[in-house]
Amino acid sequence: MNQDLLINTVNASLEPYPMEELTKIRLRLLKEQKKVFDFGTGDPQIPVWQPMVDAMKSHMGSYSSYPSVRGIPELEKAHLSYLKKRFGIEDSAGLMTVPSKGSKESIFHIALSLIGRQGKKILIYGDPAYPVYRSSALFAGGTPYPVSLTESNGFKLEPWNLPLDVQNNAAAIWANYPHNPTGANVDKAYWLNLIDWCHQKDVILLSDDCYVDIYDSGFDDPSQQHLRPLTPLMYSTDRVISFMSLSKRSGLTGYRAGMMAGDRRILEPHLKARANFGVACPTYVQHGAVVAWNDDEHVAQRRKIFTERVHFASQALHGLGIEHACPTSTFYLWAKIPSKFKGDDVKFCLDLAEEGVITSPAKWLGEKSSGYFRLALVPELEETAEAMNLIEKFIRRSI
Ligand SMILES: Cc1ncc(COP(=O)(O)O)c(C=O)c1O
Repeated sequence: MNQDLLINTVNASLEPYPMEELTKIRLRLLKEQKKVFDFGTGDPQIPVWQPMVDAMKSHMGSYSSYPSVRGIPELEKAHLSYLKKRFGIEDSAGLMTVPSKGSKESIFHIALSLIGRQGKKILIYGDPAYPVYRSSALFAGGTPYPVSLTESNGFKLEPWNLPLDVQNNAAAIWANYPHNPTGANVDKAYWLNLIDWCHQKDVILLSDDCYVDIYDSGFDDPSQQHLRPLTPLMYSTDRVISFMSLSKRSGLTGYRAGMMAGDRRILEPHLKARANFGVACPTYVQHGAVVAWNDDEHVAQRRKIFTERVHFASQALHGLGIEHACPTSTFYLWAKIPSKFKGDDVKFCLDLAEEGVITSPAKWLGEKSSGYFRLALVPELEETAEAMNLIEKFIRRSI
């Protein structure tokens, strides 16, 4: 029997998860005993800060019990304290925080509570984007609505320019600044406009703040702190939910820890729903998360590493004549495909991968994007330098 007849149409029509394609290529190259420089997936391999490891180890007892979706009280305290310290967000009756098992699952599952509210089924998001916004809408029976983000407007998502029927039928909108993959960021005025639009149109603002703490290490200087990325939660909890993560902030990608913070009127019923999903963060990981949210020094050290890599790679790309803007947040470079490749980002990345340098083509990071490739500055500086030499040779050879 045709496999597609055994599953539903949403699953049958899913494109392979783009990162899995990259993994396949990488594994093939490794099998062929080629040296691989992997700038594909944003998973920086920096040792986990020891106090987090210690906290987790000390809570791995000999009995095993189910964790709760609400989380341990110490974690809620750490969430609230982080929000206050980092963003000046005061605890209030309207604010709630909920632990997540990394932000990916929470991004996926929120659609199940929001799609269909008041009959509204559209989920708006920018393109290129984290692919889970789209798949979450589809699995929840909603309508994904990608909006092209272009360089000409700083990759800003501006829903007020969309057709009125889309604006009126949107259940929620995803914003993601600092933005993966472009590294773009927005200012307070943008957030205020977006919040205002959400309130006028009664749309839930979902802010993917995965990279909010990954900014230029120069901004750690108190005189530069006004340049640090913002979250819309600083300006309103009304119909705003922020999705934060310890993956990039604290390097806990493998342990899976994040939080949702925002409008209690949404998160409280959503928590009830989450009890069905099997997504409670293991208790020992929650203890590691408490340590992680309570400390910024280890994050400042990670920022230094990322900033050095971003500046180094950006200079190297400039030297090769590859156009891009050097971002002040995230660890991604979003670069234009050299003109001789005629904008064919997939061919560029596949051919470059054969040389051992894995990067992500724009087409795999969105439905409407093309002509760019993304470098996740995951490898160390020496490896990045080696990879840049390979990119240079590859481009020269392709002339
Ligand atoms: C924009 C964005 N959002 C969310 C995530 C999910 O991160 P995690 O599930 O590790 O918290 C990622 C991961 O790369 C991302 O790039």
